[in-house]
Amino acid sequence: YERPEGISVRQRLLVVANRLPVSAVRRGEDSWYLEISAGGLVSALLGVKEFEARWIGWAGVNVPDEIGQKALTKALAEKRCIPVFLDEEIVHQYYNGYCNNILWPLFHYLGLPQEDRLATTRSFQSQFAAYEKANQMFADVVKKHYEEGDVVWCHDYHLMFLPKCLKEHNSNMKVGWFLHTPFPSSEIHRTLPSRSELLRAVLAADLVGFHTYDYARHFVSACTRILGLEGTPEGVEDQGRLTRVAAFPIGIDSERFIRALEVPQVQEHIKELKERFAGRKVMLGVDRLDMIKGIPQKILAFEKFLEENSTWRDKVVLLQIAVPTRTDVPEYQKLTSQVHEIVGRINGRFGTLTTVPIHHLDRSLDFHKLCALYAVTDVALVTSLRDGMNLVSYEFVACQDAKKGVLILSEFAGAAQSLGAGAILVNPWNITEVAASIGQALDMSAEEREKRHWLNFAHVTTHTAQEWAETFVSELNDTVVEAQLRTRQ
Ligand code: G6P
Repeated sequence: YERPEGISVRQRLLVVANRLPVSAVRRGEDSWYLEISAGGLVSALLGVKEFEARWIGWAGVNVPDEIGQKALTKALAEKRCIPVFLDEEIVHQYYNGYCNNILWPLFHYLGLPQEDRLATTRSFQSQFAAYEKANQMFADVVKKHYEEGDVVWCHDYHLMFLPKCLKEHNSNMKVGWFLHTPFPSSEIHRTLPSRSELLRAVLAADLVGFHTYDYARHFVSACTRILGLEGTPEGVEDQGRLTRVAAFPIGIDSERFIRALEVPQVQEHIKELKERFAGRKVMLGVDRLDMIKGIPQKILAFEKFLEENSTWRDKVVLLQIAVPTRTDVPEYQKLTSQVHEIVGRINGRFGTLTTVPIHHLDRSLDFHKLCALYAVTDVALVTSLRDGMNLVSYEFVACQDAKKGVLILSEFAGAAQSLGAGAILVNPWNITEVAASIGQALDMSAEEREKRHWLNFAHVTTHTAQEWAETFVSELNDTVVEAQLRTRQ
């Protein structure tokens, strides 16, 4: 059989995530300005030529009026994006509440927020109800746009109910779910009042994916211990139906970073930064301003290093880019003040009339400035307390061809399993160990830096975001075919 010319052979992929890969700014009653944010997932799917991807998600803005909703839907359609409209109350209960105040800290082993533990426990039921309702709203949009044969790929902890909503509607839909955070030990997951409902809802998917083998194993243990189901090397079995569970470590579009270093504007930034920090080693942190990133611990370790190594005091600078995030959640507001307080204290203690040891910025940088910063960095500090993968470590490695800088990496980031050979691995809770690793990195011989860099560079440039997306979707297609064969037997 030969397909007639002009008929697309590309499989349609519906990517469903809480957030669309665009930022939308309203310019008038019926006009919107859209900017595509090229995160890992976007680059991954743009690079995959076999699929025709469409995105379904929340645009991150409240649009209460019909005129605004229609105009935004139309503008987004040009970018192959389909909006889910969430009102303020749902955003408060589902996104700020259940997702970011309960699931996010729990999945990163931080437990429930300490100070309002009781209040959180009381509001749990209403937030969980909002979570289910929001997932149903996402499902309704998927159902409207689904065509037979499409692959539906659900993303992250915001949408654990989505596979169930979709399969209940149409059991033939090919549904995959991928978690971008860690999945914690089953002993942690057990403490969640809605532990079983969430597991069962995810198990409705055909394929469930995680960044690391450990997270996949924790998920399977949670299903066996909490639900009493059978775990097999393939996944989880429930009355003869298999949900395939596997690890698919994400990567970055490394070419995009390598190419950027040739752009004149980036070269210009590199020159400026080199002049600005001449005579000093540059250490860099780039994180969302989130509890899981261990920013206070990192800064305290840097303080300890300065304390113990007075000769380095005017020869090293730490640039910390802290991108504001989830600013309506009280825990994040507290963290911002805490970080500012520590940075101020250390700069007061070790600063001089002309320099400070820490440059802390509460903002994001545009792509070209970020690449330049990675390129001039001598030591990158990625000290997350827990992190699903952490792609900053990958981006730094991709931009280090000329410098061969050192990566200090938390053993609790998923990336430690792929970049462990080239990085200096640390326990971010152990400030003494991190301080010592800063010394080790700054004193490392050029030969050793080069050897470590190439190990990591080889990994980052071969295990790309594109390869990750292709592997997941082809595994999902295969899983569905195998399941059909099994039922026919
Ligand atoms: C993490 C999550 C993503 C999320 C991102 C930014 O990487 O895994 O799902 O989109 O943080 O957080 P935000 O709440 O701003 O979407």
